[in-house]
Amino acid sequence: MIKQAIIPLAGLGTRLLPLTSVFAKELLPMNGKPGVEYILDECIEAGIKEVIFIISNKKKIIKKYFYNDNLFKKIIKKKNDKRVIDVYKKIKKYKKMIKFVYQNKPLGTGDAVYKTKSKIKDNFFLMLLPDDLIIKKNCSKAMISIHKKKKCSVMASMKVQKKNVNRWGIYMKDKNIDKNNFFIKDVIEKPSIKIAPSNNAVIGRYILPKKIFGILKNQNKGKGGEIHITDAIRTLIKQNNKFIGHSFKGKYLDCGTMHGYIKSSLEIAKS
Ligand code: G1P
Repeated sequence: MIKQAIIPLAGLGTRLLPLTSVFAKELLPMNGKPGVEYILDECIEAGIKEVIFIISNKKKIIKKYFYNDNLFKKIIKKKNDKRVIDVYKKIKKYKKMIKFVYQNKPLGTGDAVYKTKSKIKDNFFLMLLPDDLIIKKNCSKAMISIHKKKKCSVMASMKVQKKNVNRWGIYMKDKNIDKNNFFIKDVIEKPSIKIAPSNNAVIGRYILPKKIFGILKNQNKGKGGEIHITDAIRTLIKQNNKFIGHSFKGKYLDCGTMHGYIKSSLEIAKS
């Protein structure tokens, strides 16, 4: 069973500057609800019991958001507002399941994952990247169900425009399992259009094996001087660990840029 999820939240958010110089982009509201709560709700609905947030000292505002008990208690004591009481109940429910670890140097997603090493109990865990929202169908739940059947790693996949392959991790597909799932032969972080093996992109939902920590421990920096999770996955595939690509059914929303954030908010508001 997959019971733990990790969420890297220490990113600088440079694509959303100047806002992110004072605020965490993951708390930006979409139809009145912070983006990160959509991710948490996806986890809860998929049966996750514990979520590990990887934050940084600069992004302590995220922890504060879940630890504002005194403020809520004061307000509720003053005026017995039903809406505030419900909101506080929800925050408390989230708080109960969240643990925090710190990544104070932005060395990449692979490094962020490595920071959770001592917290992971089972052989597999889920990772969700908060810039990638998937609505209408629970992608994590679908991936967990494939994992249960095949007992291996699973990653979300979506076809992207060929001209944009250098923005994503890109899969080299092996044989199809069924209409929505395929084995992965290789995965390359942000390849040029010339060398991209397909236009099937990695989207931010991963079921990873605990043994990835052993790979990350000694992994060199890759593209852009960062430690990429994609490179560690690539090593695991080369060592004959099975990885499945899952073409999810939900609607993908990119929240990592201002344009994407505005578009995503409108999309959520009308759904
Ligand atoms: C990360 C991954 C990339 C993946 C993408 C999905 O990139 O490194 O492989 O395709 O997330 O959103 P980033 O968005 O951090 O540049």
